[in-house]
Amino acid sequence: MSQIFAGLDFGTTNSTLGLAPAAGGNAGPRLLAVEGDAPTLPSALFFSFEDGITRFGRAAVFEYVDGAEGRFMRALKSVLGSSLMEETTRVGRERLSFVELIGRFLAHLRGKLEAEAMRSEAAGEGRVALDQVVLGRPVRFVDGDDAADQAAQDQLEAAARGVGFADIAFQFEPVAAALYYESRISTEELALVVDIGGGTSDFSVVRLSPERARAKDRLADILSFTGVHVGGTDFDRVLSIAAVMPHFGLGSSTADGKRRLPVWYFNDMATWHRINTLYTPAIARDIRSLEREAAEPEKLARFAHLLEHRSGHRLAGAVETAKIALTDEAEAGVILSEPGLKLDARTTREAFEAATQDLVTRIGGAIDAALSEAGVTAEAIETVILTGGGAQVPAVKAAAVARFAGAKIAQSDAFGSVGLGLGIDAARKFG
Ligand SMILES: Nc1ncnc2c1ncn2[C@@H]1O[C@H](COP(=O)(O)OP(=O)(O)OP(=O)(O)O)[C@@H](O)[C@H]1O
Ligand SMILES: [Mg+2]
Repeated sequence: MSQIFAGLDFGTTNSTLGLAPAAGGNAGPRLLAVEGDAPTLPSALFFSFEDGITRFGRAAVFEYVDGAEGRFMRALKSVLGSSLMEETTRVGRERLSFVELIGRFLAHLRGKLEAEAMRSEAAGEGRVALDQVVLGRPVRFVDGDDAADQAAQDQLEAAARGVGFADIAFQFEPVAAALYYESRISTEELALVVDIGGGTSDFSVVRLSPERARAKDRLADILSFTGVHVGGTDFDRVLSIAAVMPHFGLGSSTADGKRRLPVWYFNDMATWHRINTLYTPAIARDIRSLEREAAEPEKLARFAHLLEHRSGHRLAGAVETAKIALTDEAEAGVILSEPGLKLDARTTREAFEAATQDLVTRIGGAIDAALSEAGVTAEAIETVILTGGGAQVPAVKAAAVARFAGAKIAQSDAFGSVGLGLGIDAARKFG
């Protein structure tokens, strides 16, 4: 029976499992259905205090948005390599480390893989390897700190080992996206991959061809890889700070007009992976005392509501929804409506673009770095492979393609190409 190998794309926002047969197998790479029929699992967990069950993906988002009592987590990948990794977090009666939390999520995905292994073997379709896996990694987990970046990879590896994977290899996410694209071309191309994810933006200049695809070692074909810790969740944060947090007290003063309110509460509330750190009695007290001093106490009362009702992720979700709406519309509202809090903060594409200009500039800078490290000019790039959900932001897409007037723009599967490429890489490495 043929062998099938798995690649796992643990994304900041979405995760996938790509499967590919070892060389000689007939089938192409495919994504495993990981939540119902869906090939993506939103990287979210919900620990219910009502029934004690941990939910994952859309089911986790649904329970939380529905207002169930419990603890919600998203963007855990952003914690890798940061000081938060050393902390534990309370989940009901337990205290868990972030490696354990990530492990819970990976264990859930591994369960899907195990079920597929049983099904595939029974159907005579092939033996799915459960010991080996290729994990994707961004080019940079952490900007400008190699030790922290290595620590991030080690933490992810520890989490994967903890759930039963024994033989773990890593591949850069943009290289994986290139390998998937390569499985569908017929001539040689010099390509630039632009992968704008939830947490990071990753780039790679690669030489691709059907002949080269057969080689075991591709190092010589990967001319450069660069990355920045800027992704869709940063666009959420900046939009929240520009258009939403002012409704919660950001930028307002004390009643005597002498002081501005501290900004970090608002920054953390706008940052997916930091929201839970605000849910402490000490911070609730701080906000109540700011409310007494504030020139606009009603705004701080709204902030206090977010803390009391654990509404931070619901608000962040509403910000993300508005951001996605601004991809197609000129205007959108950040809408949150729950007992005790009604918000409809209108915003425009223009305001969003003004606020996020710096993020787009940083993405453009990383593209320039990818070209110069590869020693090629923009004119030499024949194909720009666009992938990742964040590449749909109009200003990001414009910045990514502006440099490459002569190139073909290949819009690759935004949410699946990395996982599929990791599967291809696993089949090559382990097959
Ligand atoms: N139509 C859209 N317009 C703008 N942004 C979008 C759109 N659809 C999805 N996004 C954003 O794309 C991001 C998720 O992209 P993706 O699933 O590629 O990330 P990821 O692989 O989980 O993250 P990473 O690769 O950084 O770990 C989110 O920030 C989401 O809001
Ligand atoms: Mg990704």
